[in-house]
Amino acid sequence: MKVYKKKSELTAYLDAFREIKSIGFVPTMGALHSGHLRLIEESKKDCEITICSIFVNPKQFNNSDDYANYPNNLNNDLEKLKKLNCDIVYTPKINDLYANEEKVKEFDFGPLANIMEGKFRPGHFNGMATVIEKFFNIINPTKAFFGQKDLQQLQIVKALVHQMNIPIEIKGIPTVREENGLAKSSRNELLSANAKDEATLIYKCLNYCLNNKEKGVSALKLYIQNQFKKQDHLELEYAEITSLKNLLPISKWEAENENAICIAAYIDSVRLIDNIIL
Ligand code: PAJ
Repeated sequence: MKVYKKKSELTAYLDAFREIKSIGFVPTMGALHSGHLRLIEESKKDCEITICSIFVNPKQFNNSDDYANYPNNLNNDLEKLKKLNCDIVYTPKINDLYANEEKVKEFDFGPLANIMEGKFRPGHFNGMATVIEKFFNIINPTKAFFGQKDLQQLQIVKALVHQMNIPIEIKGIPTVREENGLAKSSRNELLSANAKDEATLIYKCLNYCLNNKEKGVSALKLYIQNQFKKQDHLELEYAEITSLKNLLPISKWEAENENAICIAAYIDSVRLIDNIIL
C-alpha cells in the first residue's frame, strides 16, 4: 500500500497507470469504521486501483468544537486499509490542498443545498464540495464511492460532477449499521454505551416508517416527532419525508424506492444523522 502526503507525488504515481487502469476513489475523514471499509471493498470489486483519502476538511465544519473533537487515529486507519489491500492512501496536510486563507468556493446547487443539512449546517456543503472538487481534479478517478448514510452529500456530489462536466461515475453505497441498527459513524466513538443505546431510536423510527408506509406521510412525520418528545437525552433537529430525487419534502408518497426519510438528532451534544429509502 502506497501512502502519499503530497499531491505532486500522488499524481506522478497515478499518471503512470492512467491509460490502462480504472481508478476507484473513496474520500474519508478518517476514524475508519466498517461503513468506510464497505466503500473500499466496493471500489476494490469495481476498479483496478483503489485510492482512499484521509483528510479532516476544516472548511466543512461550521462548528469549531466539532472540528476540534473530530476523532483521529491515522495509524489505526492505515492498518485497516492495509488489511483490505487498499492500493493507495492520500493523507494530505491542509497546505497541500488549500492556499493560506483560501476561501471556500460558493457553489450553486439550488434548494438541494439549503434544506436539512444545508439549513442546519450553513456553509457545510460549499466546504465539502470545495474539497471534493479539489480531490477530483487531483485524482481524476473513474468512479468515486459515497455512503447513502450522508444522502444529501451524495446527491450534492452527483450535482457537482454534473456541473463540472466530468465523467466520474458516482456510486452510492447502502448504510452499514451496528447490530442494534445505529448507523456506523465516526461520531459514535464519542458516545457512552447508554447514549448509543438511546440513539437507536433514530433507526427504530426509520424502520417503523418502512413497515407502516400505508399510514401516510404526515402521520409518520408526527409519529417520529412524538417519539423524540418522549426521550430526555435525544433532541430531534429535523425529521423530513422527502422525494429521493431532490430531497424536497413531499406530502404523499412517490413511487416505490423513490422516497427518503431523513433524521438529524443530538444526543449528549453529538450530532447524528440517518435516513432510509423506501
Ligand atoms: P466521512 O464522514 O469520513 O465519510 C466518508 C464516506 O463514508 C462518506 O461517503 C460517508 O457517507 C461514508 N459513510 C459514513 N458512514 C457510513 C456508513 N455507516 N455506511 C456506509 N457509508 C458510510 O463524508 C465525509 O467523510 C466527508 O464529507 C468527505 C466526503 C470525505 C469530504 O470531506
